[in-house]
Amino acid sequence: MTTAPVRLPEHLIHPFAPAGRANPHPAYRWLRANDPVHFDAGSRLWLITGHGDCATVLRDPRFSAAQGQRERAREDALPPSMLTTDPPDHHRLRAPGALLLGPAAVRSVADAIARDTDELLERLGQLPADARPDAVADLGRPLSTAVFGRLFDLPSSEFTRFETLARAASVNLDPMAPPARAALGRTAAGALTRYLDAHTTLLTLRGSDSPLAALAADDRLSRPEMLGILNLAVVGGWQPLAELVGNALHALLPDRAAVRRLADGDDELARTAVDELLRLEAPIPFTARVTTAPVELAGGFLPAGARVLAVVTAANRDPAVFDRPDELRIDRTPNPHLSFGGGPHFCLAAQLVRQAGALLLARLVRRFPELRGPQDAPDWDLCLVPRRLRALPLHLTAAPGVLTATPGEPGAASDELIAAPLPAGCPASGERR
Ligand code: HEM
Repeated sequence: MTTAPVRLPEHLIHPFAPAGRANPHPAYRWLRANDPVHFDAGSRLWLITGHGDCATVLRDPRFSAAQGQRERAREDALPPSMLTTDPPDHHRLRAPGALLLGPAAVRSVADAIARDTDELLERLGQLPADARPDAVADLGRPLSTAVFGRLFDLPSSEFTRFETLARAASVNLDPMAPPARAALGRTAAGALTRYLDAHTTLLTLRGSDSPLAALAADDRLSRPEMLGILNLAVVGGWQPLAELVGNALHALLPDRAAVRRLADGDDELARTAVDELLRLEAPIPFTARVTTAPVELAGGFLPAGARVLAVVTAANRDPAVFDRPDELRIDRTPNPHLSFGGGPHFCLAAQLVRQAGALLLARLVRRFPELRGPQDAPDWDLCLVPRRLRALPLHLTAAPGVLTATPGEPGAASDELIAAPLPAGCPASGERR
């Protein structure tokens, strides 16, 4: 006997429908409680919304990333990347990736990123009192470009070109982008690869001690494989890092007590806060897999060949794991959120993202303690991945005389900030969980 597929009740808007994208959480809450392994007839995808089941999807080898990410096609003739391969091939590609994004690479760029962050805030501080800088365009994107600038040893004269390519290629993140946009995104990914290829050659010629140069010099990878890693890092990382800032401030700024705690707190609290803000609004709300065998999950049965989405943004608010899951608690520990994925494909840049996010957010609220977001409803973009705000205009109302620290002073990027133990449940970059 076959049972009729479960449907969302009429008062809830489907999270993929244009009107449901702004606030998908009520629909996901219902699915998690009533049909945690849900076959979505419209997309023909299985939506997995419970925390335990999502963690299984990310870790269990019966869920293939290679097949799940196959539709992420590009027009740049690159070999499969680490995100589109399963073990054991995956490990061969991922191990050298640590040269670009592992702890030593992150340490080597930490002070420079701290200086870039201070310069960014300095520019904000010089705006007229009535200016309304945008968290997305004036903070998130420049931060992300500066981080990639340090990893890739890009001169600042190249930032505009890099950012244009990175933004255009980021369309590839959205599995439901309209066909014309998706085609443009694939073309942009090709242009990005050619750009990164030429830039890497220049770095090799002129000599560079950057993480990119270390990766390029490693002979475990062919040149196309190395370019595949760079391309994945930009397409998978530039926009999520840029969007982290707007998403985080949207959740943080209304809670004035949390803003004050963050401003007064130490580096560890700032990192814990970043994890909590990532939990509440994951920039990558779901990721795709295909089952290679039938699987019985706690929430239901999946046939072999099922196209599955691990909906991490739903898992991140599972009340079975998180006390008062819709509430912001910037000191939430442990915080086993799945915003960086899990298992073999756990985000290779998680440590870098935590560090860059913690630096920017803590220094921002220290420098502008009266910082406020808009009163009106948030302006969410209609794209599904990354989850992003179109804009978040800020009121700065800078407090005079409050300076950000420079490297070496208290509050500056320090080895402590980089090497400190990660919150419980959060593996180090490159580590499996
Ligand atoms: C807030 C920012 C970010 C978020 C939320 C994020 C999230 C994720 C997630 C969920 C995955 C796993 C995808 C899957 O399992 O299918 C992932 C993988 C990955 N991320 Fe990130 N990411 C961020 C920033 C970055 C940055 C800045 C970079 C590079 C500089 C990066 C590089 C990677 C790479 C290389 C992988 C693939 C790892 C593998 O397949 O082994 N990410 N990320």
